[in-house]
Amino acid sequence: MHDPHPPQPAAAGTAPLPATVLPAAEHAALRRALELAARGPADTPNPQVGCVLLAPDGTTLGEGHHRGAGTPHAEADALADAAARGHDPRGGTAVVTLEPCRHTGRTGPCARALREAGVARVVFALPDPGAAEGGGGAELAAAGIDVAGGPAAVGEELAESALDLIGPWYARAARPAVHVILKTATTLDGRVAAADGTSRWITGPAAREHAHRVRAGVDAIVVGTGTVRADDPALTARPAGAVAGPQPLRVAVGRRPVPATARIRGSDGRFLQATTHDPALVIAHLAARGVRRAVLEGGPRLGTAFLRAGAVDELHAYLAPVHLGAGAAAVGDLGVTTIDGALRWRTVHVDPLGEDVLLVARPA
Ligand SMILES: NC(=O)c1ccc[n+]([C@@H]2O[C@H](COP(=O)([O-])OP(=O)(O)OC[C@H]3O[C@@H](n4cnc5c(N)ncnc54)[C@H](OP(=O)(O)O)[C@@H]3O)[C@@H](O)[C@H]2O)c1
Repeated sequence: MHDPHPPQPAAAGTAPLPATVLPAAEHAALRRALELAARGPADTPNPQVGCVLLAPDGTTLGEGHHRGAGTPHAEADALADAAARGHDPRGGTAVVTLEPCRHTGRTGPCARALREAGVARVVFALPDPGAAEGGGGAELAAAGIDVAGGPAAVGEELAESALDLIGPWYARAARPAVHVILKTATTLDGRVAAADGTSRWITGPAAREHAHRVRAGVDAIVVGTGTVRADDPALTARPAGAVAGPQPLRVAVGRRPVPATARIRGSDGRFLQATTHDPALVIAHLAARGVRRAVLEGGPRLGTAFLRAGAVDELHAYLAPVHLGAGAAAVGDLGVTTIDGALRWRTVHVDPLGEDVLLVARPA
């Protein structure tokens, strides 16, 4: 298991996957593809992408990168380079920093170009989260091509490097692909903890059971490092009567190290720390790992950051008939100074849960 990375300006995260899970030639080719990608223009509507074509013996057949909107994608550029060098990519491996696209834009789908070129294997660092562009890996796999993509296939280190390179683009593409639920469990006076920081339990068993069912239906459960330190939550889905199965990814957000003994780490390898304060990059980290639904369980500082960023798609507000009178509020400063600026939500439904009430709402 990796230790948390030190603070970094861009996306950074840790996970328990081994640093290298690819054959050495493909690992080196992906490193090279990242160098090539960096040659493309940054901060344009298109991502920087690099591609290396390998022969079955691991030698390089061609290299390419994307040079900006309207120019060939990295895969097409590498295929053209291989052709110019007189190399045939049939039976070889395409190593790409981003999942090949399947859409027909100005330059044609890369997944089809690789299929038609006869490559036998495709390796990519990051899945493409875009609704239109994603899915090239699945298309290639359906055509019988060996596909290895994403952090689990290429290792965290290379996936993180790819995300560092195109973090802002990836975050923009990922935002619509990840549904974020913000869960709060509050007193009638909107507090999530008592003055001494204790918060177990504000709500009763029926509300907690409901929250476990929600956890069981998402791909990731996310909290800030403050909550990890204050509550040491296990963050597992434990609904009554459930048969044990794979757990959602457990995600800690923040730069302070998560203690080695913290329960959130678990023992199943389903733990990630995103050492960023940017909700968009948190979502990018989630999307890179295939997360499509996530529940954000606080605490107040992380929840507030997501609300301020407009990065919440659904609220689950559990309200308990309790007063505390002091202690942390569920939500901090949102920059709202007058009632006209209030962040308003549309109530979808209200459920009584034992003594408590659940309000589910979506952006108005
Ligand atoms: N009742 C409930 O529903 C509920 C739920 C959760 C927590 N709680 C309670 O909330 C309290 C903890 O509150 P908290 O606000 O400290 O917890 P938090 O929001 O879980 O953690 C705060 C930490 O999140 C990190 N972070 C990530 N993005 C951030 C951003 N954009 N802005 C600021 N910080 C960001 C920072 O970590 P680094 O400093 O490491 O970078 C920050 O210190 C505990 O008492 C806990 O029991 C209650």
